[in-house]
Amino acid sequence: MKLRAGEGHQLPFGKPPKVVLLVTFSFMLLTLIAFCHPFNYWQPINFLKTSSSYSSTQPSSSSSSVSPASVSDGAGAEGKECDIFWGEWVPNHRAPYYTNETCWAIHEHQNCMKYGRPDTGFMKWRWKPFRCELPLFNPAQFLELVRGKSLAFVGDSVARNQMQSLICLLSRVEYPIDASYTADEHFKRWKYETYNFTLAIFTSPHLVKAKEADSDGPTHTGLFNLYLDEVDDRWSAHIDGFDYLIISAGHWFFRPLVFYENRRPVGCHFCNDQSLPDLTKFYGFRKAFRSAFAAINRRKGYKGITYLRTFAPAHFEGGLWNQGGNCLNTRPYRSNETALGGDDMEFYLIQIEEFGRAEADGRNRGLKYRLLDTTQAMLLRPDGHPSSYGHRAGEKVVLYNDCVHWCLPGPIDAWGDFLLEMMKTEGRRSREEKLSSSGRRLA
Ligand SMILES: *[C@@H]1O[C@H](CO)[C@@H](O)[C@H](O)[C@H]1NC(C)=O
Ligand SMILES: *[C@@H]1O[C@H](CO)[C@@H](O)[C@H](O)[C@H]1NC(C)=O
Ligand SMILES: *[C@@H]1O[C@H](CO)[C@@H](O)[C@H](O)[C@H]1NC(C)=O
Repeated sequence: MKLRAGEGHQLPFGKPPKVVLLVTFSFMLLTLIAFCHPFNYWQPINFLKTSSSYSSTQPSSSSSSVSPASVSDGAGAEGKECDIFWGEWVPNHRAPYYTNETCWAIHEHQNCMKYGRPDTGFMKWRWKPFRCELPLFNPAQFLELVRGKSLAFVGDSVARNQMQSLICLLSRVEYPIDASYTADEHFKRWKYETYNFTLAIFTSPHLVKAKEADSDGPTHTGLFNLYLDEVDDRWSAHIDGFDYLIISAGHWFFRPLVFYENRRPVGCHFCNDQSLPDLTKFYGFRKAFRSAFAAINRRKGYKGITYLRTFAPAHFEGGLWNQGGNCLNTRPYRSNETALGGDDMEFYLIQIEEFGRAEADGRNRGLKYRLLDTTQAMLLRPDGHPSSYGHRAGEKVVLYNDCVHWCLPGPIDAWGDFLLEMMKTEGRRSREEKLSSSGRRLA
């Protein structure tokens, strides 16, 4: 399965957003979430951010220096209601904290400086939640928190992008050794020896079983058969014992797909087959997540915390992804300059809904789900993509600019800030959930 830069985004035939449906759906979602969150972890002002809000403490240290780890789960700190995913990018002249010279983990396709990107301003921002501070990533603190633990990424090349960002962020303290059990680059495993911390990636762009039925297909971008009710066991059979799972998917669902259920074709997305109903990419996306979460909840040996890393929008302008569209901005958007809409919004809302379903099912089994809600932050970063500066040496980029992945160093490094903050507040959050569920049992 190839994961070439920029391939994963198919935009030409997107339908206009179904506004009425969406509003109705959003309302249902709000109602639903209100019932699921007795502690009122949400801000009605910002309806999209509902289930992701939780209390965040003041920064213990926003310094970038490697200080001795002080591990705190946030308990005792004066908690202020703050949605860390709702905010703005603000200048940070001290960034970046690694370069393509100090970190060897940067994939060629995201090594934007190596291939001549002329501007560097895109590296010099940090995420500032509106109502609190998000401490910058502290590698020593992170490694202390994950000592003796293991974390796996499940997803596509954007998941790999995040893993490589994390390796670079941690590289100020330690580099991992390669502990892969296969030579297949799609299933890598890294070990931080000093901390006995294992990092793994399971590449599975569709999360469910997929077969490339035609490498060309109706739009010359390949045609995949997706077995929507059969999870991809190349990841699901191997998650036992992992403490953290970060699951994501997105851009591969924009390409032509034939959907199978019970091993029979039931419909497709843009497959040019008159005998099959067009069920839309949204159908496939939803069902794939549903199957993935069901597999996680079924897995007896898995007791970890599952993070859904929400959809990170692409930013093609002036043309479609395969027709010369490009992303040439050199500054982030302000939060008032753009808004989530169209396919991005639908993908996001589908994820939120399937997440809610998984979380409810998982609760019965004692499994925790968390939303790593990167969508809004990344929507604001049209300047952070490799564009034509992400390619292998000697490779010519003519039509396919990459406005999907993220330069390293770059805005995706903020996902480390989010992750560390969530891990720090996890202890407190778990206690509150335990209280609330015992409260429900008493009621
Ligand atoms: C890093 O980027 C510089 C340009 O800023 C380039 O000259 C150099 O070859 C790159 N090094 C690596 C190891 O990618
Ligand atoms: C390392 O961590 C694993 C769990 O991930 C644990 O089973 C093992 O005992 C640990 N090894 C050491 C030397 O602490
Ligand atoms: C967005 O907000 C900023 C600062 O609050 C303001 O200067 C700018 O004019 C606003 N832009 C738009 C498009 O409303």
